[in-house]
Amino acid sequence: MLNKIRVAVLCSGGGTNLQAILDTANAGGIPSGEIALVVTDNAAAYALERAKRAGVETAVFDKKAIPDRKAREEGILKCLQAHKIGLVILAGFMTILSADFTRAFENRIINVHPSLIPSFCGPGFYGLKVHEAALARGVKVTGATVHYVNEVCDGGPIILQKAVEVLEGDTPEVLQKRVMREAEWKILPAAAEIVCRRLLEKR
Ligand code: GAR
Repeated sequence: MLNKIRVAVLCSGGGTNLQAILDTANAGGIPSGEIALVVTDNAAAYALERAKRAGVETAVFDKKAIPDRKAREEGILKCLQAHKIGLVILAGFMTILSADFTRAFENRIINVHPSLIPSFCGPGFYGLKVHEAALARGVKVTGATVHYVNEVCDGGPIILQKAVEVLEGDTPEVLQKRVMREAEWKILPAAAEIVCRRLLEKR
């Protein structure tokens, strides 16, 4: 019996959350999981470089090369199945997944979102836009959430959250960095271990 869950991380951009997962795993912080694969929908994603440096296999389903979302999803699903992936982590993956996809990995997909859900989430709230909306509303506290992914965008059960202060004079970029450093990079690797352990206990 395998004693680790094979994990795939899906990214579209810089991959700092991927890096936090790789670093934590390297330091022994995700003993129930093995980072087996990095998948991207952007051939230019710096996340690919991070994966290669860590010696993790990569797969590219580029939005420009495969503009049809259904075809891209089918390709990704087949790839995940071929690699015997048990947990999918969305770490800055900028495509909303269809119900067909989320059902194929029910309770086996988690996502990090850069706000305290249910604030500033759902369709249209991604990346910097989330922090722009938080500043426009004038909230004094924001944060990050890791949640299970189902067919409702940002609507699955919450696993971990962490609050972060908004400071006078924050720009969206400055706030984004603080939320990443103080919240996302901590709770995403922690949630990865929690969910891998839950999946192992179910075996
Ligand atoms: C992160 O802030 C992540 O929470 C956000 O995109 C950024 C990716 O950064 N994800 C979403 O907004 C999803 N709705 P990274 O590529 O450096 O990890």
